[in-house]
Amino acid sequence: MRSLPAGNIRVEIHGSVEDIVSAAASRLFDQLRGKGNSVIGLATGSTFIPFYSYIAAHFHAEGISFGKAVTFNLDEYFPISHSNRDSYHSYMEEHLFSLIDVDAANTHIPDGSTSDPEGEAKRYDEMIRRAGGIDLQFLGLGRNGHIGFNEPGTPFRSRTHLTALTQSTIDANSPLFSGGADVPHSALTMGIGTIMEARRIVLLAFGAQKAEAVRDALRLEVSENVPASALRRHPDAVFMLDEAAASLL
Ligand code: GLP
Repeated sequence: MRSLPAGNIRVEIHGSVEDIVSAAASRLFDQLRGKGNSVIGLATGSTFIPFYSYIAAHFHAEGISFGKAVTFNLDEYFPISHSNRDSYHSYMEEHLFSLIDVDAANTHIPDGSTSDPEGEAKRYDEMIRRAGGIDLQFLGLGRNGHIGFNEPGTPFRSRTHLTALTQSTIDANSPLFSGGADVPHSALTMGIGTIMEARRIVLLAFGAQKAEAVRDALRLEVSENVPASALRRHPDAVFMLDEAAASLL
């Protein structure tokens, strides 16, 4: 692993995806060792499939319990039912929650089946606040620089909200949808302001298709045109990359 300076952000460049996920999992395990009832912010997407599979395979041997952990997912499509196999509810159940000892009552994902998305967004921020705020937030990175579903142009002060997805995000996510189902055109997402309140942030990105977004986030001016560039204003954020994602730095 080598490190690169990028202002406030620590950039770690790892030799393989396996190295990234084991290093990221160590951060999660250390957090839970220090504080069993930590509040953890979770992400979805293809990036997190190997991460969750690593956690599920290793948490027990590492002596870690999720029994007291509280989790908040970043986002969920809207509208979508929880039982839809393409919902982030289903994703989390399949890739993580059913494989670890987390208490279902302590897991939270925005409700994509609500008839009141604005009310749901307010309720979600309020639940995070009441839980004491997020100790450790994991993030992926959209090809257009989005974090959560905060597309380019989203205000840095934004709270959890209903958002319209860009065509590029719909296209990028459609291969993850089963049986050719259409990707919903909206989503509920933690806002950038919500994400920035997390005490520590770990962003994972690998593969050449993330190289431009990584470069724009770290090397262009901090701007709402590149949502992930907001992280350069965070006091404790790390980007964990592979060589391909870091290739334009
Ligand atoms: C999705 C999710 C993001 C995720 C990003 C990258 O749209 N809402 O939270 O980080 O896009 O996805 P992937 O890991 O599949 O590249």
